[in-house]
Amino acid sequence: MRDRLPGLRADPAVGDPSAMFPEPVDDIWMEIGFGAGEHLAGQAVRHPGIGFVGCEPFVNGVAALLAQIEDMGLRNIRVFDDDARLLLSELPDACLGRLYVLYSDPWPKVRHHNRRLTVAENLSEFARLLRPDAEFRFATDHPEFASWTLERVLRQGDFHWTAASPADWREAPDDWIETRYEGKARADGRAPVYLNFRRR
Ligand SMILES: C[S@@+](CC[C@H](N)C(=O)[O-])C[C@H]1O[C@@H](n2cnc3c(N)ncnc32)[C@H](O)[C@@H]1O
Repeated sequence: MRDRLPGLRADPAVGDPSAMFPEPVDDIWMEIGFGAGEHLAGQAVRHPGIGFVGCEPFVNGVAALLAQIEDMGLRNIRVFDDDARLLLSELPDACLGRLYVLYSDPWPKVRHHNRRLTVAENLSEFARLLRPDAEFRFATDHPEFASWTLERVLRQGDFHWTAASPADWREAPDDWIETRYEGKARADGRAPVYLNFRRR
């Protein structure tokens, strides 16, 4: 953390996220709440031309991601080790080509629903940051959180839900990389729900 994080930290003051990377990138994709970072690192390996910005305030998760960045020699990941919303508000309109929110905390009690990442205020910010046709990928193992989020995204109106059949929300997209939390959910018998949207 002491040696590696300063050089890899996504600085909100930079503004343009493509300026956070040492080499030119084809696009910027973001993951909010990357946990231990397996998905983020896996996508970064798969897409070396993309600049990835991962947001996660959980220190052990950031440390786990830094270890993967070092072990795999990844140059296309920048890390925001705080509440993602503090970074989002500093970024310019339409700067992202994809956003992942995977297994974010479901906050099951009704009185805590306003803590969910997919509240209307954050959805509007996601819509501002994603370019037309950019993807917003959401997954959860909590069925009520899935329908709650779907309802809010559709009501918000800036996204098109791409599902054409039940398989589209029951089965992971082809290029999926299983997250740590997803593996635990499956092992405990909880079926994930995959909601894929495109920015109108
Ligand atoms: C249940 S974990 C899932 C982690 C990972 N995506 C996975 O599937 O294994 C949710 C993560 O979201 C992070 N998180 C919650 N609120 C956040 C926020 N406002 N900004 C960034 N990360 C956040 C938490 O610290 C936690 O690590």
